[in-house]
Amino acid sequence: MPDLDALIAPRLAELAATGLRRQLRVHDPALIDVASNDYLGLSRHPALIERACQWTERHGAGSRASRLVTGTSAELLALEEKLARFKGTEAALIFASGYQLNSSVLPALLELGQGKHEPLVFTDRLNHASLHAGLRGLKQIRFRHNDLAHLEELLLGHPGDFRWIVTESVFSMDGDRADVSALSGLAERHGAHLYLDEAHATGVLGQHGEGLASLARGKVPVVMGTLGKALGGAGAYVAGSRALIDWLVNRCGGFLYSTAPAPAAFGALDAALDLVPGMEAERARLGRMGDALRAALRERGLDTLASTTQIVPALLGDEARALAAAETLRAAGILVVAIRPPTVPPGTARLRFSLSAALTDAQFERVLAAVRAL
Ligand SMILES: Cc1ncc(COP(=O)(O)O)c(C=O)c1O
Repeated sequence: MPDLDALIAPRLAELAATGLRRQLRVHDPALIDVASNDYLGLSRHPALIERACQWTERHGAGSRASRLVTGTSAELLALEEKLARFKGTEAALIFASGYQLNSSVLPALLELGQGKHEPLVFTDRLNHASLHAGLRGLKQIRFRHNDLAHLEELLLGHPGDFRWIVTESVFSMDGDRADVSALSGLAERHGAHLYLDEAHATGVLGQHGEGLASLARGKVPVVMGTLGKALGGAGAYVAGSRALIDWLVNRCGGFLYSTAPAPAAFGALDAALDLVPGMEAERARLGRMGDALRAALRERGLDTLASTTQIVPALLGDEARALAAAETLRAAGILVVAIRPPTVPPGTARLRFSLSAALTDAQFERVLAAVRAL
C-alpha cells in the first residue's frame, strides 16, 4: 500500500516553515472572545437554547433523511416562511451550512444557462472561499474589491446573455460593506443577475437586522446568509422568489442529497427570528464598539482598512507579525485570531477582531487597553 502519510508529512512541514500551518486549538473560555462571529451574543441566549431543546424533543436529535424524504415538517415550512418575511422575500430555504449552500446553489443557478448561454460571472476579488467553491472550473471575471467602476468596465467589456455578479454585502476579513443599492442598479442596467452573500450582515445591519439587501428591496434576486453567526445557531439560508426556491429544491445537489439539518438548529433559528428585529440597542452598541476599536488601533498606527462594521481588521502584513500580535493579546487574556494567506491575499496577514454584543463594558475596556499596549 502506498504510504499516504509519507506524502502528507513534507507538505505539512512546508506549511510550518512558511508560518502557514494551522492547528486546532482547544477554546479557552477564560479568554475574552473577539474572534468568533456570535455578533449579537445569541448562541448562549436562553430563548434559543430552550427552543432548540423543544424542537429536539418534538422532532428528534436528527432529521433522519434529506428534506425531500422525511426532513420536512409543517413547522419547518412555517419557519422558512418566517425567515422569508424577515428578509422581505417571497420564499427562503435552509441549508446545513453556508459553505455547502454557496458551493451548491451557484452551480444550480449557472445551470439555468442550459449550455446555450455561457455564464459570465463577475466576482469581487475578496470573495469568500465558499463562493469560489461554487464557481470551481469556471473562469471568474474578477473586479477590484468593492470597485464598482471597475465592475462596470468589465461588464461593458464582456457582453453576454447570461451574466452574474457574485459578491458579499459585508466582507468577512475586511469588515467593509458593498454599496448594495449601487450594485443592484448596475446589475439592472447591464442585465446581470446579482447574487449577494449576507453572512456577516444578517442580524447586524439593515433597519431590523435583515441585512443590506433591504437597501435594494426586490432588486437582489438571490440573497444568502448564515445562521451560525449573528443568528446564534447553525446553518444557512437562501432567500428570493418562490420560483428560485422551487428550482433549488429540484436542482441543487447540496440540498437534494444531504440530510436535513438537526431540529435543534431550526429551533434556535425560530427563537432568533423572534429576537433579532428588536435588538436595535445591541446593533447600535456594536457600531459604537467598532468605532472605538478602530480608533484605538489607528492610534497605535495600525491600518484597519475600510472597516465600518463589527469586523475590525488590523493589518500587519507579515504572517509572523500577525501571529506574534495574536499571542501577545492572548497573554493579555484576549482571544483574537491571526488571519493568514490563503484566507487573505499574500502580504496582508492581519488580526481580525469580531465584536459581540455579549461583551460586557469591562471586557471591551480590557480589549481596548490590550490594543493600546500592543
Ligand atoms: C462570507 C461568508 N460566506 C459563507 C460562509 C460560510 O458559512 P458557514 O460557516 O455557515 O459554512 C462564511 C463563513 O464562515 C462567510 O464568511
